Amino acid sequence: MLSPLMPLDIQSLIQTRLGENYDLHDRHVNRTLVKVLRTIGFDKVYARAQGAYLYDRDGKDYLDGLGGYGAVNIGRNHPAIKKTLSDLMAMDMPNMVQMDCSLLSGLLAEALIKRSPPHLNAAFLCNSGTEAVEAAIKFARCATGREKMLFCSRAFHGLTTGALALNGSPMFRESFGSLLPGNDITLDDFEALERELATGEYAAFFIECVQGKGVHYPKSDMFWPKAQELCRKYGTLLVADEVQTGLGRTGRFYAFEHWALEPDIVTLAKSLSGGLIPCGAMLTRREIYDKTFSRLDRCVVHSTTFGRNNMAMAAGLATLQVMDEERVVENADRMGKALLEGLRGLSSRHEFIKEVRGKGLMIAIEFAEPRSLRLRAAWKIIQAADKGLFAQMVVIPMLKNHRILTQVAGHHMDVIKMTPPLIIGQTEVDRIVRAFDETLADCYKFPGAMWDMGTNLVRASLSSKRAA
Ligand SMILES: Cc1ncc(COP(=O)(O)O)c(C=O)c1O
Repeated sequence: MLSPLMPLDIQSLIQTRLGENYDLHDRHVNRTLVKVLRTIGFDKVYARAQGAYLYDRDGKDYLDGLGGYGAVNIGRNHPAIKKTLSDLMAMDMPNMVQMDCSLLSGLLAEALIKRSPPHLNAAFLCNSGTEAVEAAIKFARCATGREKMLFCSRAFHGLTTGALALNGSPMFRESFGSLLPGNDITLDDFEALERELATGEYAAFFIECVQGKGVHYPKSDMFWPKAQELCRKYGTLLVADEVQTGLGRTGRFYAFEHWALEPDIVTLAKSLSGGLIPCGAMLTRREIYDKTFSRLDRCVVHSTTFGRNNMAMAAGLATLQVMDEERVVENADRMGKALLEGLRGLSSRHEFIKEVRGKGLMIAIEFAEPRSLRLRAAWKIIQAADKGLFAQMVVIPMLKNHRILTQVAGHHMDVIKMTPPLIIGQTEVDRIVRAFDETLADCYKFPGAMWDMGTNLVRASLSSKRAA
């Protein structure tokens, strides 16, 4: 006779093995990432998370300035999402029957469409940002009969091979072979924009209204509206990738609202799940949507097995309700302004700061060569080894000394980016500003601990390049 099934005791498993994290990943997962995290002292073991904070095993709090790359806009482990998910589990609902139309996916589509401009009236549901982008590529190609994609330099739209074809950073594309046809243009280059679109070859122009890599947006307020106008003129669909900027990140539900755009296709993911279950969506006009599902035998010509699963749909519905009730978008706008103001206030005191920019709670600090001779020499040594190492030098003590998790905003750029959960308050804003102030003040001590650390980073970077 079979013995009664013992369910996995997940709590004791975690209790007994917590702390083996990095060794396990070194042996079985991405050991290069482990190396990087160990080098920069980011090999922390987080044991618990709530709202905008992570906690280590000693209960020390870490302010989360990354927000899971924008996946936890409403804060981690939000009680309302947990309750919705456990209530749903208790119901034993049929899930992923596939040859049916589930209630919850219909309800999430309805809820998203209700929050979007009226022309975006059909939704495709999937599991991630990159999948939402893949859907947008296919739907745009199908609707226009064109193959090429236009995108922006520095763009980031995901890392599956379709989305990778729209990546504006050579480093991400390197060594993965040839990708879908397309071209990139630089922000604010009106001439290149029209020259490319006028070829009539592009199915879609993919934009991030505020770019994730480096937090860049056009200097001219007219660039995005002009892009929309030219897309219409030359028959190219405008795709606003809101995977990172959507759901309140920039202080509006959608970032395209800042420029009053009416994109033909919009992609969402990340925080749509409330940070607990993967979930993505693509919204578009009904006529574009129906071009893909154009005949009965094409009714599932684009789909994904878990795309409309109940847990993700319920998490999405619960997240949207939390956003309404807690006025998350308004808070992002208010706290974003407070954080920008606080950080801009540091510019006058710290010659390393070139610019503080952002919208809502998507904020970047860019550094530049200091004026004083002594510091300039130190800066140049660091830059010669790797552009971006100075920003890394700042990120390390931000975590070590101030317990604030931040990250360099992209490869080879001296930019630190912050995307904290949108629920932060003035306490968190003050803590971030104070921490940057103190960290940058340490950079004036040359020689000193900061520059010693920089030298160590230079060594690590050079030895890894030699090994590669
Ligand atoms: C603008 C944008 N699009 C797409 C993606 C890909 O999303 P995912 O990581 O869920 O595949 C990202 C991820 O950072 C993103 O920022």
